[in-house]
This record gives sequence, structure tokens and C-alpha cells, in this order.
Amino acid sequence: MADTTGADVTGAADGREGRVAADLMQRIERRDATVGVIGLGYVGLPLAVAFAKAGMPVIGVDADAGRASLIGRGQSPIEDVPSDDLAPLVRTGRLTVAGSVGALGPADAIIICVPTPLGKSKEPDISHIVAAADEVAKILRPGQLVVLESTTYPGTTEEVLLPRFAASGLNVGEQFFLAFSPERIDPGNRTYGLADIPKVVGGLTPACRGLACALYSQIVERVVPVSTPQAAEMVKLFENIFRSVNIALVNELAIMCRRLGLSVWEIIDAAATKPFGFMPFYPGPGVGGHCLPSDPYYLSWRARMMGYEARFIAFADEINGGMPAYTVQLAADALNDQGKPLKGSRILALGVAYKPGVGDVRDSPAVEIIDALLLRGARVDYADPHVPALTVGNRRLEAVPWAAADLASYDLVAVLTAHRQFDPVRLCREARLVIDTRNLTGPVGVQPHVIRL
Ligand SMILES: NC(=O)c1ccc[n+]([C@@H]2O[C@H](COP(=O)([O-])OP(=O)(O)OC[C@H]3O[C@@H](n4cnc5c(N)ncnc54)[C@H](O)[C@@H]3O)[C@@H](O)[C@H]2O)c1
Repeated sequence: MADTTGADVTGAADGREGRVAADLMQRIERRDATVGVIGLGYVGLPLAVAFAKAGMPVIGVDADAGRASLIGRGQSPIEDVPSDDLAPLVRTGRLTVAGSVGALGPADAIIICVPTPLGKSKEPDISHIVAAADEVAKILRPGQLVVLESTTYPGTTEEVLLPRFAASGLNVGEQFFLAFSPERIDPGNRTYGLADIPKVVGGLTPACRGLACALYSQIVERVVPVSTPQAAEMVKLFENIFRSVNIALVNELAIMCRRLGLSVWEIIDAAATKPFGFMPFYPGPGVGGHCLPSDPYYLSWRARMMGYEARFIAFADEINGGMPAYTVQLAADALNDQGKPLKGSRILALGVAYKPGVGDVRDSPAVEIIDALLLRGARVDYADPHVPALTVGNRRLEAVPWAAADLASYDLVAVLTAHRQFDPVRLCREARLVIDTRNLTGPVGVQPHVIRL
């Protein structure tokens, strides 16, 4: 693939130390450097597969024994990685799987892709990063490059990882190399895959950056070097905050359009015809997944430590966080107009994953909405081709197959995630009353029994 790295290892010290970087660079460019990936989730597994497909030996590590064993048998738990792609890599030994970081001794490059959730008070929980870094510190040897990919606050790589690795007595930029490169993949996106999304890279030293850029150049079309790991950490947070704030803006627009008797979808589509200065975002029942509800708080927490209170982040979260309750109220009002209370009404939730094309229900607003409907006495089923079973509060629900669902038997069908399997024509024809929070039914046109957000 094209080398757009501007990569060099000139920042390495002369002599023996410079040779360490040069040797690693050669191994990366020859693609015989072994890549270790810690955390084989939505981020780590596609990455491990991409390096293995590029011809590099890969060792994947996951602390979840069940997941490690599944992947080690060539079975993928992730929609974006077909088992048909994974299995041959495992069978030929190109990709091996281990249960502990101890197996990464032979790895030339180690990439950390562990979760970064929030704690109870919405403070960053970097305990998975710390655990992974502590494990890497035990096996760190001269000639290794370590890259953190987990989304985190600016300063993590330098303040949390570097001291742990430097305690080994090895010098960063000379004997070992350290960088941050945020993951920007969009699970379920069929237009932009891992190779098409430019990779932002910030290294502790020029040598660190050059080596990390060279590594990613093996699997992506374009690498974007930035000055420091902090800058790269901030880029990722800015991208997600940009989305969170714009989604909040359009959610608020949807609320105002309803009061004005306007269709927010029509307004957005018309505004999006402006060829410059506008980018469409769409409203919905709330934001979910591992990123949008959490990542912005990594920055506001960090800013607060520096004496600054971030306002856009908090306000966007307030509006986006209010959308599930707004959706429940829409459902209650729609039923009320038909003389029915929520209590006892039969409701089918269409889609519970946080976005189309994936089975990820982490922080999905659908779960909050179903929980609220159940608490108010509604009898709720759900259909989602990607989520066979769902736990809501202390209840376990099993998916109703979309194809076999008797839509007319429900008092209300609520579209919460617009999976492509859901046919809007059939939905409008068979359902008696629909709340559509995703404009799934837009192409069918205005229908008296369909209420769009
Ligand atoms: N999911 C996304 O769409 C996405 C996109 C961009 C960035 N990110 C970021 O990437 C990071 C990873 O997210 P994810 O969605 O892949 O998470 P995930 O939960 O799908 O996967 C993380 C994996 O790491 C494993 N793990 C945790 N601690 C470990 C340890 N000490 N050693 C070995 N394995 C360990 C877990 O068992 C899990 O399988 C997060 O920081 C996230 O914010 C996620």
C-alpha cells in the first residue's frame, strides 16, 4: 500500500540504539515483524485479521477465555469479521490466539485495544489500559513498539504507559518505541472499512512515530502523523464530541419541529443540498454504543482537572440522554390518541442494537426505552436479526423473528434501529400504529398511522 507516512527513524540516537529502530523498521517493511494485539473485540479483532491478511504473523490476546477460545477455533464473534476470513488465518497459523499477554514476548509490535468505559460518576475508567500496560511492562524487551489504540484522555500514553515501560530501564525512542493511534472504525459500515480510514499516529519521539506510521501503512491506505500522542488522543475525542454535539443539535431540532408541525427529516434533507458549510446529522431515540455516550466525558474530566468546565459536552449529553424518555412519551401519546393506556398495550420494538447492521447493545437507547415501557406496564416484544436475546432490567427477552412477526397483533410498533432487514412497506401495510424514530418509513411517504420523530 502507499507509504504516506513521512516516516523516518532519524530521531533515534546514533549507533547501537539507532540500529534497534532501523532493524524494526526493516522487519515491518518486509512484513515479517510479528504483531501482537491485546483485546480481540470490535477494534482488536478486525485489526488482527488485517495484519494477518497483509502477511504478518499475528498473536491475538484476550482476557476473556471464552472469546479467546472461540477465535482460536476460527469462529468470529463480530459481524464485521466473517468467520470465513478468520478461519483460514487461524488454520494456517498466521493468526494465533492466547489468553495472556505473556505470549507476546516474540511480538515486535504490540497494539492495545482494550475497553475504556466510564466509572459510576462518569469519570474515565482506564483500569483495562493499566492492567494491559502492567502486563506488557513484564515482557517488554529492546526492539519492541507498543501502540495504544483505546480511546482515552489526552496524556494517557505519556503519563500512564510511559512510566510503566521506562521502569524497565529501557529508553523510549531508542530501545523501545511508544505511540498512540486512535481507532476510527465504524462497525457495520459497508462503505468505509479499516483500510479506507486514514490512521492518525502520534509517537513519543520521531522514531516512535515513524515506526508506528510504517506499521499501519501495511494495512491502511493513508497514515496521518501528528506531533504527539496527546494530539492523537485529542483528535479521537474531538471526532466523537463533534458527532455527539451535532446529534444533540438535530435531536433538539426534531423536538422543535414536532411542536411546529414540521418534518425534521424534510428539513435536514433540504438543508443537506447546500454544497458547502453543512453536514447532515440525523435525530434518533438516543445515542448508544461504547463510544458516543462515554468518550466525551474523557475530555471533560481532563479539562476539569485543568480548571475548565466543558459546556457543550454536558449539554449534548443532556439532550441526547433525554431522547429515550422523549420516545416513550411519543409512544404513550400515540396510544393515548387511540384511547389506549401504555399499561397492558402490546408493543413491538424494532431493532435494539445501538445502530444498524450490528448486534452491539452496549448503552443502546432501545434497552432504556423497553425498560421504561415495561415499568409502565406495557407488554413488550422485540425483533432484531442481530440480537437473539436481550436482558432488560432483570428480564430476559427473546427476539421475535421479523419475518414471522404478526405486526397487526401489536397495538404499537416502535422503530428504534433501522436494520436493513426491516421492510418499511410491509411495516406500514401490516402494523396498526407505528412510531418511527429513524425515518425507516420515509420512502413510503406520509401515512396516517405512522408517527415519525
Ligand atoms: N467499538 C467501536 O466501534 C470502537 C470504535 C473506535 C474506538 N473504539 C475504542 O476501542 C477500544 C476497544 O473497544 P471495543 O469496542 O473493541 O471493546 P470490546 O469490549 O469489544 O473489546 C475489548 C476486548 O478486550 C478484552 N480485554 C480487556 N482487558 C484485557 C486485558 N487486560 N488483556 C487482554 N484482553 C483484555 C476484553 O475481553 C474484550 O474482548 C475502546 O477504547 C473503544 O472506545 C471502539
